[in-house]
Amino acid sequence: MNILVTGGAGYIGSHICVELIEAGHNVIVIDDFSNSKPEVLGYIRDITGRDVKFYEFNILDEEKTERVFQENQIDSIIHCAAFKAVGESVIKPIEYYTNNLTTTLIMTKMMRDYHVKNIVFSSSATVYGDPETVPLTEESRLGETTNPYGTSKAMMERILTDVQHAYKDMSVTLLRYFNPIGAHASGLIGEDPKGIPNNLMPYIMKVATGELPCLGVFGDDYDTSDGTGVRDYIHVVDLAKGHVLAIEKYTEPGVHICNLGTGKGYSVLEIVKTFEKVNGVKVNYEIKARRPGDIATCYADPTRAKQQLGWVAEKTLDDMCRDTWNFAKKQTCDK
Ligand code: UFG
Repeated sequence: MNILVTGGAGYIGSHICVELIEAGHNVIVIDDFSNSKPEVLGYIRDITGRDVKFYEFNILDEEKTERVFQENQIDSIIHCAAFKAVGESVIKPIEYYTNNLTTTLIMTKMMRDYHVKNIVFSSSATVYGDPETVPLTEESRLGETTNPYGTSKAMMERILTDVQHAYKDMSVTLLRYFNPIGAHASGLIGEDPKGIPNNLMPYIMKVATGELPCLGVFGDDYDTSDGTGVRDYIHVVDLAKGHVLAIEKYTEPGVHICNLGTGKGYSVLEIVKTFEKVNGVKVNYEIKARRPGDIATCYADPTRAKQQLGWVAEKTLDDMCRDTWNFAKKQTCDK
């Protein structure tokens, strides 16, 4: 299949490109490098031995987007391109809503006009809000989102659902990610956010390399085993494999919703301890106040992914920590 991956140079998008190529698909990427680097495209080639066809621009540019659809016979789309920094979204809601919603609308318009029947969307467990019970199934009630980023994800889900209802021969898949971490085993691609990281694993990585002095653990008084927040961390390569299966298997017209998580929750301190143990490094941390908007516990019920896609997360937390550190060391050597 010819598959368009929007945001294909990003953290998750680049791993998806690798898995798609390895499964025999042709990959076309649109990315504006707003949160990624051009070198990633070369790394995808180093890993797979094949090139992606690449276009550099923001999808808000509708004319350029349309040209991609004119120049290529696109069979399916994996839509990852979006602004994703939770804190920044609170300060720049207009930019976040404009970018995330308009690009999604443009994608759906192109699907309609160029008869593309299949889209897989990068959604997030954030759409469940503060869960009443865990594990979260796809039937769990959608919750109140606590920042414009999360709200934009919920709104993008809604846009895609309404479009599918109007164009009934489309297949729309909403993949709700839990907490993707880790990196490709090659150490060539991984998560290297610009500036001070918002998320736990990139922060731990930068404390371990000495780039940042100390991790702040946001709260130790949650109702969890050790008081720190519990999340369902999933290896980004497992996540990427889930996309390949989703694009291949969810071809029936309709809206398909699927959680991608492991089904197991780990606390912040368990992550810190595992990272230290697996990699033989020290991660300094101190307990800080809770971060506004955070919830105590969030993990998936991944049964549907297993039943419908034959997908289960295969990599362990040790793998996630090891691969993150392997990536970090490569980055430091290259700098
Ligand atoms: N945490 C810290 N210190 C930090 C960063 C995080 O203690 O410096 C803690 C958080 O309080 C939380 C856990 O680590 O308990 C995970 O936090 P992340 O920021 O890594 O991830 P979140 O679960 O808050 O959010 C992630 C993604 C969102 C997505 C959400 C879905 O960042 O994009 O999962 O649940 F929407």
